[in-house]
Amino acid sequence: MTVDATIESLFACPRCDKGLTSPAQTGLHCSACQLDFPSLDGVPVLVADPITTLGEWRQRHHMLLEKLGREQQRLDGELGDRSLSEPARRRLKLLADAKAEHIVELKTLLRPLELTGYQANYETYLALRTRVPSDHGLTTYYPNVHRDWCWGDDENRRSAELVSGALHGIDDGPRLLLGAGAGRLAYDLACGETSIRTIALDFNPMLLLVAAAVSRGGTVTLTEFPIAPKRLQDFAVTRELHAPSRAPDNLQLVMADALRAPFRPQVFSAVITPWLIDVIPESFDQFATRVNQLLPKSGRWVIFGSLAFGQPRPRDQLAFEEVESVLAAAGFANVNFDEAEIPYMCSPASRHGRREQVVIIRADKAKSVKKPPRAISLPDWIVKGDAPVPLSEPFQMQAASTRIHAFLMSLIDGKRSLRDMAAVVEQQQLMSAAEAESAIRSFLIKMYEDSQRETTY
Ligand SMILES: C[S@@+](CC[C@H](N)C(=O)[O-])C[C@H]1O[C@@H](n2cnc3c(N)ncnc32)[C@H](O)[C@@H]1O
Repeated sequence: MTVDATIESLFACPRCDKGLTSPAQTGLHCSACQLDFPSLDGVPVLVADPITTLGEWRQRHHMLLEKLGREQQRLDGELGDRSLSEPARRRLKLLADAKAEHIVELKTLLRPLELTGYQANYETYLALRTRVPSDHGLTTYYPNVHRDWCWGDDENRRSAELVSGALHGIDDGPRLLLGAGAGRLAYDLACGETSIRTIALDFNPMLLLVAAAVSRGGTVTLTEFPIAPKRLQDFAVTRELHAPSRAPDNLQLVMADALRAPFRPQVFSAVITPWLIDVIPESFDQFATRVNQLLPKSGRWVIFGSLAFGQPRPRDQLAFEEVESVLAAAGFANVNFDEAEIPYMCSPASRHGRREQVVIIRADKAKSVKKPPRAISLPDWIVKGDAPVPLSEPFQMQAASTRIHAFLMSLIDGKRSLRDMAAVVEQQQLMSAAEAESAIRSFLIKMYEDSQRETTY
């Protein structure tokens, strides 16, 4: 990777916050931490422990390939059934072939992940508290890739218009998109203002690798598996993903964590968070103080997308009306709210597309606020391992149900019926036979359904 000197001055170390350099313009380096940051197909990886983070994504990649392989085998198995109707056979064959092809596509796309070639140290990684969230898989936002670079022109154009409108009036300083996904909005903004440095940050390597390839003017072939296929041939559709033209030089992709954004303070004229604030695992009030650090006075924050806050604590699931006061407390003023209806994920192969009421909020930084503490993903008792594991109420409840579940699972021997299991539970005087039967049935329903469910990697 060659690092352009004008952008080198924007970056800071995600470990120690000191500025980064690019000796011989080959890659970014922190002299305080003595750390060279690698790159993934030209995209700098600016996370606190790059090797372990890449290792963790690599593991998810392998698990995803295994899962696809199992799905393909299952489809092949079903295809062996001679009683299948002809249309069902065609559908299953289409899917089986597509899964096999998808494995090859993903191996090709994610090949740069395999080339890191270093040994990961999981303990250091944990000590830095920078784990990739376990509910976040490589394919969590997979449909976005197809929307961005194949069939989403209408949605992409409306999104770019709305965000560009909200950026009107600010100066020509650099712009940062946090949670930029597969990069289409960043690309459109960069093409619209080629003299303005535009940085697109995300932590998902699959999305970034697609963004990197299409930005170079390349084509990525990936199969789309629509959520609600319209016709038989729509169960799996081969898509050729590409950008309208090669991206201009002012667009820079970065792999990093938005909660530890690797930049020097106050270097951006605008921060844009497209469809991010409601999915990020941090309360909006805290995250707003992080965005504040990145902007100088009068710098602008543009929030675009949904306000369906998914944070676990009810107090963090804000209503529209609460957003303005949170922004004010985080040092923002001149808050402007807009709403618009735009197409959302309207794949031509799916019945699932809809129209979505998005919000476009712009807020200008009025004053600096106290720097928030470093984002940590795991508590001390997990990371350091020398403090007592807290006997919290949820843990106690989980322990009790795990014991019962383990006992019930131990009764499954391939011979006992549900009623036989209930009889054992009654003999052990754990429950009456009637209670046991319905409790075991509920438990087995859950186990059965879990076993049928897909997991995202
Ligand atoms: C709902 S998607 C939106 C993607 C893109 N902005 C779009 O509109 O298509 C949320 C994006 O945020 C990214 N993301 C979530 N948490 C992140 C974090 N802590 N750091 C960086 N990216 C994150 C995800 O990988 C995903 O690409």
